Amino acid sequence: RSARKIDRPLVLVGLMGVGKTSIGRRLAAALDRDFIDADEEIERAADRTVAEIFEAHGEAYFRDGERRVIARLMDEGHGVIATGGGAFIDAETRALVLERGLAVWLDCDLDTLVERTSRKNTRPLLKTGDPRQILRDLKEQRSPAYAQAQIHVVTDGGPHDVAVARIIQELA
Ligand code: S3P
Repeated sequence: RSARKIDRPLVLVGLMGVGKTSIGRRLAAALDRDFIDADEEIERAADRTVAEIFEAHGEAYFRDGERRVIARLMDEGHGVIATGGGAFIDAETRALVLERGLAVWLDCDLDTLVERTSRKNTRPLLKTGDPRQILRDLKEQRSPAYAQAQIHVVTDGGPHDVAVARIIQELA
């Protein structure tokens, strides 16, 4: 890979609970880059939580805001960007990230996703039914899109530092 490519924003994508925010923060520290979380930026811009936005306006409205915020974050040229699990599924966002950033798909087993998302039950998409079934379906539906990411790292519930080391290895 060319050095130029490594200069691009590293954009973490993958399902809820895979560790995009925690791993992203550590990755940024390890690379001495800044870190920004897209969901936090959406909440700041809207002055509401993601759950409140879903509840008040629905998912389509959230996706519009998410698309705009990620476009802005790409413009601002942050070092490491964590995205919400659905962001990279939007064709427009995906095209932008693939063209101007380096997408890193964090992938792990279903049990880990279920366990981690159950610790803090704030995700509106997991409240509409059985979280395991929903995550299983989302994994199946979304994996083909996530697979378009330039880098693919399987974490399977291992320590975040190992995931960080794997990503850095992939950049070399
Ligand atoms: C979503 C994932 C969430 C958040 C929203 C929708 C999704 O982010 O953006 O609840 O569609 O997968 P995390 O992946 O950070 O939980």
